[in-house]
Amino acid sequence: MSKKVEGFSKFSKEEKIEWITQSHFDNPENAKNLITSYNHSNLSIQKLHDDFVENSLTNFYLPLGVAPNFLINGASYTIPMAIEESSVIAAASKSAKFWASRGGFKANIIGTEKIGQVHFLFKGKVEKLNLFFKAKKQSLLDSTSSITSNMRDRGGGITGITLIDKTDLIEEYFQLHLTFETVDSMGANFINSCLEQIAKSLQSAVSEYDDFTEEEKQIEVIMSILSNYVPGCLVHASVSCPVDQLEDHKGLTSQAFAKKFIRAVEVAKKEPYRAVTHNKGIMNGIDAVVIATGNDFRAVEAAVHAYASKQGSYTGLSNAYIEENNFFFEIKLPLALGTVGGLTQLHPLVKWSMELLGNPNSSNLMEIIAVAGLAQNFAAIRSLVTSGIQQGHMKMHLLNILNQKKATEVQKEKAIIFFTTNTVSFSAVSDFLKSNP
Ligand code: MEV
Repeated sequence: MSKKVEGFSKFSKEEKIEWITQSHFDNPENAKNLITSYNHSNLSIQKLHDDFVENSLTNFYLPLGVAPNFLINGASYTIPMAIEESSVIAAASKSAKFWASRGGFKANIIGTEKIGQVHFLFKGKVEKLNLFFKAKKQSLLDSTSSITSNMRDRGGGITGITLIDKTDLIEEYFQLHLTFETVDSMGANFINSCLEQIAKSLQSAVSEYDDFTEEEKQIEVIMSILSNYVPGCLVHASVSCPVDQLEDHKGLTSQAFAKKFIRAVEVAKKEPYRAVTHNKGIMNGIDAVVIATGNDFRAVEAAVHAYASKQGSYTGLSNAYIEENNFFFEIKLPLALGTVGGLTQLHPLVKWSMELLGNPNSSNLMEIIAVAGLAQNFAAIRSLVTSGIQQGHMKMHLLNILNQKKATEVQKEKAIIFFTTNTVSFSAVSDFLKSNP
């Protein structure tokens, strides 16, 4: 059967599955049974999921776990995390418990500004474009009033618009650069609707502006789109305690541990290969909560890594130091999140996760998620500078290896006991299973 198809999106879900399994799989019946077995037993919940995207066939599961005992700004949280990596939730929980008895995490919002741009080409005198913009700026903004009305009622809206000459980058290239406050929504749809309206209004205002020549009236709007780079939508999270409360770690005094920890953070600040891995560890915590709360992890990833490069080279996002015998560990990063709109009111597990967190507003969620990133980073560096990462990782990975090797429940139980005192590796688990059939 050919793998080419016409009008696929018009097929019913059953027809899609039929065609795919028949044309792509050696055993179509097995392939069909597997994919349909992942459907939700409640048909209306399944329909809800199917309606999220085009060509939905079934659901793709990720484990949803929780990390309890987070103390953030004096309040207790159990944080939902959707992630497949074995050790992430265990590490977050360990950090949460460690810091809960040392004053907990502090977090605060530095800014919530979002950004969008209308990119266009203008052939003509820059001074004339500047005069035009000055004269028409308010009417461009006013043209969005029906789109912004609800947002303004909620305390948000467009907070600024500037004309930027970008002709040093590309000939005839200009931007309308807009800033937004989107309150509790991530705001992508709102921002893009405003920008597309502004672009239309710009084109018609330019075409009617008497001082422009015919050529100047022919501006070309290239595109209108939000920017996922949000250096003004920033959150700060931190922990601190007297150095001697850090406890001794695997033969290191608390003082030596603090120094080694700080050096590891400094390496990530200065050395890009390490910085990327350091930040990946932070994103382990961040993405897991971003996904569990129905937010856009691609947007968050893009923003965070751009922010990590803002000085021209890629750098670690956290910072650690000792001051007056106190150990400080902190992070500052951009997080554009929503607690209304998008999937937040639609996806049953997202709603569940939000309730678990006490239905935070978007600023609270920024704080919680920044803390999850810092906690993850603390756990990773603590392991790296003491026992190494593999001990904890492989312990958590043990069940995956056992499942891969089709171990029985009895073998699993025995293996878990055996590997509490033995080093886990793929071959060690194989040997264990051979000698414990
Ligand atoms: C693994 O997913 C994340 C770490 O590599 C992070 C780090 O090295 O800091 C452990």
